[in-house]
Amino acid sequence: MKNKSLVSINDYSREEHLKILDLAEEYEKNPRRNLLQGYVVATLFFEPSTRTRLSFESAVNHLGGKILGFSDTNTSSSTKGETLRDTIKTISNYVDLIVMRHPLEGSARFASEISKVPIINAGDGANQHPTQTLLDLYSIRKTQGKLEDLSIFLVGDLKYGRTVHSLLMAMSNFNTTFHFISPDELRMPEEYKLYLRNLGLSFYEHKDFTDIISEADIIYMTRVQKERFSDPIEYEKTKNTYILRNKMLEEVKPNMRILHPLPRVNEIHLDVDESDKAYYFTQTLNGVYVRQAIITSILGLNQ
Ligand code: CP
Repeated sequence: MKNKSLVSINDYSREEHLKILDLAEEYEKNPRRNLLQGYVVATLFFEPSTRTRLSFESAVNHLGGKILGFSDTNTSSSTKGETLRDTIKTISNYVDLIVMRHPLEGSARFASEISKVPIINAGDGANQHPTQTLLDLYSIRKTQGKLEDLSIFLVGDLKYGRTVHSLLMAMSNFNTTFHFISPDELRMPEEYKLYLRNLGLSFYEHKDFTDIISEADIIYMTRVQKERFSDPIEYEKTKNTYILRNKMLEEVKPNMRILHPLPRVNEIHLDVDESDKAYYFTQTLNGVYVRQAIITSILGLNQ
C-alpha cells in the first residue's frame, strides 16, 4: 500500500483491506500516536462533507501531523478558473498526501495520475467512496464477528449512492448475498450487477423489504442524493420512498445492525436511534481509526 493512491476500492486487494481493518483495531485500542510528526496532509473538498473531512482531520491530528486545505471552493483559486490539474500539481508540492472530494466521477483517478504524492479519493460524484467502504467493512466485521457469508440489504438510492457502489465491490470478496431495495428510478446500475454476475454471486432486487427483513444481517440505509438529480421533480417523487421505523424491527435477527454512511435526511426515523440495532453513529467513530490506518499504510509508517 506504500505510496499507492486509493481511488477505487479495487485499487487494494482483499488482503490489503483486511490488513487495514486489523491495523484500525490497533488504532482503536490506542488512537493517540506521534507517527505523523513532520508530515503534512491536504484535505481538498470541492463538495460539502462533515464526516469524511473531519474524521480525516481528526485522524491526522491524533497522529501528530499537520493539515492544510479547503472545505469551500470559494476560498480556492478554482473560482478564478484554475483547473483541477493545476491545483493538484501545485498542492502536491506542499504536502505528503492529498485527500480529495470532487463532484466529477473520475476526478480522483485523474488527480492520481498527475500528483507527485498519493491521492485518497474521499468521494468522486456517484462513482466511489473507498474510505467509507473500509470503515463500513470494519463496522460489519466488528458487529457480525466476520465478513463472510452475510446477507446485506442495500436500501435507497442505489443509482447515485457512491458508498453502495464501493461497498458492493468490497463485499463481493466475502461471498455476500446482496438484496437491493430501491424505487425503479434508483436501481443499482447495470455495471455493478454485471460485476456480481461475473463473479457468480447472488443478488435480488426488491421495491419493499418489510416481508424479508428477518433475513438481513446488515441493513445499509442510504439517503436519496438530491444533488445528483437533474430534475427536482424526480427527487421529490423518490425522496420519501423508504423510512425505517423502530416498529419494523420486531422480527429482525438479534445481531442485525443498521448502518448508514450519513448524512441522514429522513430515511431512518429518529425512533430507531435508541434501538440496539442502530449502529450508524458508532460507524462514524470507526471512521477515525480506519482513516488512521489508511494514512499510515500509504505513508509507509506501519513497518
Ligand atoms: N459519509 C459521508 O461521506 O459523509 P460526509 O458527506 O459528511 O462526508
